[in-house]
Formats: sequence, C-alpha cells, structure tokens
Amino acid sequence: MNESRPASMSAFWMPFTNNRDFKASPRLLVSAEGMYYRDVDGNRVLDGTAGLWCVPCGHAQPRITQRVSEMVGQLDFAPTFQMGHPAAFDLAEQLMEYTGHKFGHVFYTNSGSEAVDTALKIALAYHRARGEGSRTRLIGRERGYHGVGFGGLSVGGIGNNRKSFGPLLPGVDHLPHTHNLEKNAFSRGEPDFGAELADELERLVALHDASTIAAVIIEPVSGSTGVLVPPKGYLKRLREICDRHGILLIFDEVITGFGRLCTPFASDYFGVEPDMMTTAKGLTNGVVPMGAVFSRRFIHDAFMQAPPGIELFHGYTYSGHPLACAAGLATLEVLREQGIVENAAAQQAYFEDALHALRGLPHVIDLRSIGLVAGIELAPIPGKPGARAFSAFKKAFADGILIRVTGDIIALSPPLILDKQHIDELFGKLANVLQHLD
Ligand SMILES: Cc1ncc(COP(=O)(O)O)c(C=O)c1O
Repeated sequence: MNESRPASMSAFWMPFTNNRDFKASPRLLVSAEGMYYRDVDGNRVLDGTAGLWCVPCGHAQPRITQRVSEMVGQLDFAPTFQMGHPAAFDLAEQLMEYTGHKFGHVFYTNSGSEAVDTALKIALAYHRARGEGSRTRLIGRERGYHGVGFGGLSVGGIGNNRKSFGPLLPGVDHLPHTHNLEKNAFSRGEPDFGAELADELERLVALHDASTIAAVIIEPVSGSTGVLVPPKGYLKRLREICDRHGILLIFDEVITGFGRLCTPFASDYFGVEPDMMTTAKGLTNGVVPMGAVFSRRFIHDAFMQAPPGIELFHGYTYSGHPLACAAGLATLEVLREQGIVENAAAQQAYFEDALHALRGLPHVIDLRSIGLVAGIELAPIPGKPGARAFSAFKKAFADGILIRVTGDIIALSPPLILDKQHIDELFGKLANVLQHLD
C-alpha cells in the first residue's frame, strides 16, 4: 500500500473541490476500517459522513471486500447488452425482496447521476409507450440535488451547480424548497410547518396542464443542499397530487436509501410509495460504483407491450458490472444479518440528543435531524458565504473528525455501525470546533 504523499498533485482535477486551496494544504486519506479513516500522517479520523453518505456497513467490511475479491478473480467483466451473468439477476431479485416487493424491476447504472438521468428517460419513454407522448415536462425542486448529468442538473435546484452549464433541458419547472428557519428551526424529525408547499404542484398543473407533465422528482430528504427534512404531511400530499394527474413520482434515494433514516428506504419511513426510486452509494457500501433505478411493475409492463425487440434503448457499458453486483449482494447480506439498520435505529435518539446539545454554541442558528442525518446551520460571515462552515470542516479534520459542509451548513451522516462512544467523540470534537470558530 502506498502511504506516502504523491510526488505531484497537479494533474488530478479534483471534483467539487477548491483545487488551489486543497493542493496548498492537502487532506490525504490512506486507509479505512470500521468507523475510521487514517490519514497520510497516521492520524485516525472518525468518519462522520460515511465517506460521501455511502458506507452504511462501515469501512473494509470483511464480507464485502472478500466477495469483491473473489469476483474479480472469477469474472472481471461481462457485458449486459444481450448477454448476462448470474450475479446481476440475483442482485436484482434480492433488491426487490429488500423493498418488500413494492418494486418489480431494477435498472443498473454506475452512479447516482446516471440513475437520475435513467429514471427521467424511463419516465418520458413510459408515457410515450402508452400513447401520451405529450407528457414531456419534468418537475424538480429548488435546492434539490440530483447529480451532475444534464437531466439531473436541469431538475436540480442548486444555483452554483447550474449556472455555468446552460442551456439545460427545456420544459423543466421547480417546486419551492421547504426550508423555513423562521418557523421550523431546531426541529427534531419532520418539521411542523410547510405541508401546503406541495400544493404548488397544483399551480404548475394549472399552468402547464397535466397532459404535458411526465414526472416529479425530489429527494425525500434533501441531503447535499444541507439536510432539508420534509414538513409533516408534505410527501403524502405530493403523492396525492401526482396520482390525481397521472404524473409519475420519483424519489431520489441516493442518500436516503439503505438505512440512512433507520428504515431501509425513506419511502418506508414516510409511508409514501414513489413510482420509481433512484439509488446508489449504500447499494454497494460504496465499495464499487453502482447506481440503480427501481421501478414499479406497471412502468416496466408498459414497455413490454411493444413489438418484439429491444424495449428500452438505454444502458451503460458497466450496467450490472460483476464486481458491483458482488458488492451489492454482500452488502444486502450484511445489512440483514448484522442488523445494521436496527443498530442505526437503536442509536438514533442518542445521536439526536447529542446533536441538539449543540444548541447555544456560537454561530449555530439551526439544528435539524432525521434518522442518522444531522444538519447544523451556521450564521454566515457577512459577505463571505460558506467561509465559516469551510473553516469548521478544516478544523474538524485537523481534530480527527470528517464532517461535510455545504454553504454554511454542516451535514453529518456517519456509518450506521456507530455506537455511543463514536457519537460522543463526533459531537464532543465538533462542539470544540464550533467554540473556537471565527
Ligand atoms: C440525492 C442525490 N442524487 C444524486 C446524486 C449523484 O450521485 P453521484 O455522485 O453518484 O453521481 C447524489 C450525490 O450525492 C445525491 O445525493
């Protein structure tokens, strides 16, 4: 294993990174196990973010790494266009079982972004297959994050992600976000205010006519924009409006899937069933890149009415890659056999209490939480948005905890294998960071 510093950092154009700042003072991770990373200087760093929301079962999980190693020796690659391999089918069946058979089919991608673009394309093609080709409009939400493909960017609602890349897809509209500090600050779980914001969909239907609208896509809990928990009743209301107008509802569960809310999926937590669900990250415990679109049977059925031939002209070279399938199958086994989601549920109240104990610390203007996700919103430094949280991120890393920041919001989403000592360490160190922030 190479634990030394790279000879040069110039060539790697890092994603979503302040490249110049990073390269001037890099943070290099060289190994990981369980709840901890180790950095290039040998320091242990508690993982408060499950990497990038993607390691529910903890790092270097032995069963997952072993299955992936076995598969790479057995079947390094196999195409899934007009071909197949058993693990891809086995994983699909197991995933359906994991959702309680609420979905009938799964389409593999390699990332969350690809899953989102795939789901949007399936929505358009589904309506066309049923003779409703006028349904082309897609509706996302302000502050939504759906990855970085042109489809996901177009329905996404984060200004900085969008502004340099237009024109984006035409015929896209956005619902308002639900964040309301005045009324909902310091909520635990779903905030009380804002269910009626779902009615904005009725306004868009009145404006455009339902016959032009294909799908609504939202994150049940917005993650990347800073942990925005849906108001009580909001998602149910959105579901009802979609049903009333024949609009497909897509939940982007790339971060909420696989236990983050202490239920297998956010749809289980909220008791609201989408027509499609996009996933990635925890699907393989982050070990091999993979995304997946779960679709209810009626959507797939519509494609199977076509004359014999390829039913959906879409797919990726690496859709259903053998290593990803091996990782996915092992992840499901570990989730089930080791009670990972049950452990998350058992730790949830302690985690939430530890979060809310930060109330009153300097600059903290909101604390919000659901499942094992926490958002800590800081007052921005006037004229320097994001600077305060970024400084918290750097101080936290130096103190041995990995947190994630977006704007002036700190997001926490630790691996689901954590125990009370990890929670004490995470929030203890974070409190210290907050106390010493400018
Ligand atoms: C809700 C959501 N959708 C899509 C994505 C994009 O996933 P990826 O980075 O794997 O393309 C993310 C990534 O964080 C996400 O949080």
